[in-house]
Amino acid sequence: MNPDTVTTSTAPGIRPPDGPYGIRLLHGWYRTGGPAGLAEHLDRYGPAPLATARGSLVDAVERAGLTGRGGGGFPTGRKLAAVAGKRGPAVVIANGMESEPASRKDATLLHLAPHLVLDGAVLAAEAVGATAVHVCLARTREDQHGGLARALAERRRAGTDRVAVHVHTLPHHFVSSEETSLVNWLNGGEARPQATPPRPFEKGVDRRPTLVDNVETLAHLALIARYGPGWFREYGTPEAPGTTLVTLSGAVRSPGVYEVPAGSPVTGALDAAGGPTGRLGAVLAGGFFGHWLPVPLEAAALGRGAGVLAALPEEACGLAETAAALGYLAAQSARQCGPCRLGLPTVAEDFAELAWGRSVAAALDRLNRRLGLLPGRGACRHPDGAARLAASALRVFGDDVHRHARHGPCAAAHAPLTLRVPAARPPEEGEWR
Ligand SMILES: Cc1cc2nc3c(=O)[nH]c(=O)nc-3n(C[C@H](O)[C@H](O)[C@H](O)COP(=O)(O)O)c2cc1C
Ligand code: SF4
Repeated sequence: MNPDTVTTSTAPGIRPPDGPYGIRLLHGWYRTGGPAGLAEHLDRYGPAPLATARGSLVDAVERAGLTGRGGGGFPTGRKLAAVAGKRGPAVVIANGMESEPASRKDATLLHLAPHLVLDGAVLAAEAVGATAVHVCLARTREDQHGGLARALAERRRAGTDRVAVHVHTLPHHFVSSEETSLVNWLNGGEARPQATPPRPFEKGVDRRPTLVDNVETLAHLALIARYGPGWFREYGTPEAPGTTLVTLSGAVRSPGVYEVPAGSPVTGALDAAGGPTGRLGAVLAGGFFGHWLPVPLEAAALGRGAGVLAALPEEACGLAETAAALGYLAAQSARQCGPCRLGLPTVAEDFAELAWGRSVAAALDRLNRRLGLLPGRGACRHPDGAARLAASALRVFGDDVHRHARHGPCAAAHAPLTLRVPAARPPEEGEWR
């Protein structure tokens, strides 16, 4: 048997989708311009493998080198193996919450190829010995819920799934999509991060071993199960194999969600959206939990963070953009741990001072002392992400800080923002359930 093949039932004549862009997950959309119902999905990709031996899909995913597309970039095969190795029936959670404000990739994927995500979730469930799949979506996106409910109804009529699949809508706050928030909510609690250990893979939903994967990760898994790890590695780099979805926004000609080879140069990814509209000042990579890249972009490549590139035009104020994003992150914390209750709000206030205030030197001094104290001290990685964004802004917009210190805020600091930053409203106590 070809070691690259874990499928036992790929229909003869079904060719793996390929091409330069929009090649795999978005293949059908590039071809037809619309979402895929079950018949269209089967026509595009063929049926999901029926009798994947437990273990062989885990092995295939490990050899494919698939890493999580939810932001952390953890090796998916290792996570599958950890859950499969636990005793008793497991649970799978498909994380479709996409709380990152600069990202639309999961919403796009769920809209255009819901069956690929559902195939992946069910295949993952079979591979780890799970008896239930929970798809978690943000409560604010009613259309998304309707679309997925219709896709599931189609599958029920066709008898596609061999495990029970449930769709849930959760509170839509930034930290409600963190994996322990999902588990806690599914267990009847609030969608707030919980202290670890135990991590979900040890004890999650109903105290069972629980695999939490991003919906894009699961869609890739569905294709690896069909076409094998060698096929997956035909795109990307040895360290970052496969393709990846990226939301391109800001100063690019055609903003939107694109599928590009993983590890692509950032300039190449921007070109997928028609390239920059003019001279750029910086690029935000990985979203509000990511970091600013200076221009010229030169050797910068797509990393493992959430697939986001937001291009900042040269005339925009990177300090104002960062201050707004930090204000949002500070407001959206679960306010349970010290770094989020005390540290994040002061960092956001100091950044606002750099962007719009007059006491720039004092604010910079406080930031230099406090930023290093945030990472690794919360129950979840929320403060770490915010600190990373702030530190990268100080590096990349260092000249702007000095200009603001000498001359006060620039005119651009009061111009409309390039980033889409939601209102910085802290969730009320009753809004976590
Ligand atoms: C504050 C915070 C927010 C997160 N939001 C998301 C999210 O919206 N979607 C997602 O897939 N993962 C999110 N994650 C990561 C999840 O906790 C989890 O690691 C991920 O769903 C695992 O899937 P993956 O291995 O396929 O990436 C978030 C993590 C943190 C710390
Ligand atoms: S670090 Fe912040 S967001 Fe994470 S659990 Fe603690 S208070 Fe909540």
